[in-house]
Amino acid sequence: MNLDNARILVVGAGLMGAGIAQVAAQAGHNVLLFDTRAGAADAAKAKLATTLEGLAAKGKLTPEAVAATLARITPVAALQPADLVIEAIVENLDIKRALFAELEALLPDEAIIATNTSSISVTALARGMKQPERLVGMHFFNPVPLMKLVEVVSGLGTDPHVAQAIEALAARWGKTPVHTRSTPGFIVNRIARPYYAEALMLLQDHAATPERIDACLRAAGFRMGPCELMDLIGHDTNFAVTNSVFAANFFDRRFTPSLVQQELVDAGYLGRKTGRGFYRYPEGAPAVPV
Ligand code: NAI
Repeated sequence: MNLDNARILVVGAGLMGAGIAQVAAQAGHNVLLFDTRAGAADAAKAKLATTLEGLAAKGKLTPEAVAATLARITPVAALQPADLVIEAIVENLDIKRALFAELEALLPDEAIIATNTSSISVTALARGMKQPERLVGMHFFNPVPLMKLVEVVSGLGTDPHVAQAIEALAARWGKTPVHTRSTPGFIVNRIARPYYAEALMLLQDHAATPERIDACLRAAGFRMGPCELMDLIGHDTNFAVTNSVFAANFFDRRFTPSLVQQELVDAGYLGRKTGRGFYRYPEGAPAVPV
């Protein structure tokens, strides 16, 4: 299985899907980008154009490279056949399973489906598929163009050759693939969940503000503090991941979801993507405390 020249369909043109489409196109792949939200794929491509042109203006990319990358990304209005599908839709087991059923009806038998799920069991996601062996986790980190790590996750039925092909592809894209078996939260989110949980408990106890917590962790050597990181991830996604890891660990209290996070989701304060989370994000200006 060689994916070097694979035609790729990215499903979900949100934070992660847009970044994955960019990285794949920059590596030379023809990429189709689909989202059920009308206009989302076009908007993601337009935003990418602005970002890449900004980099070209700073001399970090040539105008030819920008044009070539953009020419390789095609927003599409319906699912299409491809050699590799990378799924980056909402973190929900039933919705992802329904998508895989739709995909299997139109994909060739040898096509691979990779899921960017942060936390849902790859084994469980594959249940009901005609070819469960072709599903594998390909878990990128945010922001995709900058973060090197990719967790390659095998479920119980994943064909080892499929996982190896995805590892090779990620390495070719300049990423650092790490293979793991599908366990709740995989490697990084298993460790990160209690880290976020402690920050949320400090907030609930009124022990410190988000700015103070973030300043402490940055001073301790982390690139970002937990509150600004949760704002970057998006509270809707992060809360869904917390709930999923909590349930998958048989409701172990170390992974208990937080009311602080529930409130942010209820209010629609989803972080950077909505302009407000723990911080406010005025257009074109640095973050400010709420
Ligand atoms: P997002 O909310 O920014 O984007 C999700 C997109 O999927 C939306 O544009 C939505 O319209 C679309 N969508 C929903 N259902 C769909 C369907 N059935 N078919 C096609 N498109 C559909 O979410 P984000 O942050 O990009 O997350 C996507 C996936 O990536 C989730 O599984 C998440 O857990 C995972 N992930 C997120 C990370 C983060 O930092 N936000 C990091 C790593 C993984």
